[in-house]
Amino acid sequence: FAIYAPYIKAINALKKERNAVILGHNYMTPEIFHGVSDFVGDSLQLAMKASDVEADVIVQAGVHFMAETSKILSPEKTVLMPDMAAGCSLAESITADGIEEMRAKYPGAPVVSYVNTTAEVKAASDICCTSSNAVQIVNAMESDTVIMTPDQYLAQNVANEADKNVVYWPGSCIVHEQYTAKDLRDFREWNPGTRLIAHPECPPDVVAEADFSGSTSGIIKYVTDEKPKKAMLITECSMASNISDSLPEVDFVGPCNMCPYMKKITLEKILYVLHTMEGQVEVDAKVAEKARHSVQAMIDLSK
Ligand code: 13P
Ligand code: SF4
Repeated sequence: FAIYAPYIKAINALKKERNAVILGHNYMTPEIFHGVSDFVGDSLQLAMKASDVEADVIVQAGVHFMAETSKILSPEKTVLMPDMAAGCSLAESITADGIEEMRAKYPGAPVVSYVNTTAEVKAASDICCTSSNAVQIVNAMESDTVIMTPDQYLAQNVANEADKNVVYWPGSCIVHEQYTAKDLRDFREWNPGTRLIAHPECPPDVVAEADFSGSTSGIIKYVTDEKPKKAMLITECSMASNISDSLPEVDFVGPCNMCPYMKKITLEKILYVLHTMEGQVEVDAKVAEKARHSVQAMIDLSK
């Protein structure tokens, strides 16, 4: 950590000067997660924090759709994105036209869109969800058939738990789609006693093979409460790095996958945007108003 100390010191001083807060996603590297973030969490927790945090500036240490969500919920605040190219394979997989296509295919069915979408897609949807509340949101819809976009695997995992007929868009997360059920079975055979913990963006047969599935914060809570001797986190690599120091009794084993988008965010870029105030995220006012409705409806149902 010593090598990062000058950046961490400079960022924390600039935060005070600008009355800024840094919202850090659980997939940030440890020096960002522990060194400069004021709040860390999963997508839902960060959205909720963005809606009520007291600050003039939010620096989104995460990917672009998260910064858009913060701007939608706090339009009066300046929202800074350290790297505009920090996208998401799910957000890139669908446009507002795709939502209309699904509505035409399943007339009358409500559209539940994952927060991993652009503001335009949120605006075209009825309500949003995250991996931590998706089953609850889908079950709360009045219709028997519910359209979920854009993550086919999250939708299939939700369908296994919800009381609805879930139809979905064929998007996927490049980090979680790489895991296979065979990987998990082989790993279990070679490393008996390992607790396998998967994110619900993994394919359903991977989730079925795992001992637990949950959002990034759900995973952290599970490992913190259960303290298994050995755990394999079937998700992004920074998760284990961020919690391993506070859980010395847990041996984090096995391979993990990096999200190339999340890893675009660095201390250097955070310092740069705080210094220059470049990287401001804007959302068209009309789009933002409709998108806010979808995000707020999700937050209200999640409280
Ligand atoms: P959660 O933090 O909501 O589980 O989302 C994971 C993810 O992939 C965000 O991009
Ligand atoms: Fe998108 Fe997957 Fe990266 Fe999350 S981990 S930002 S869902 S590509």
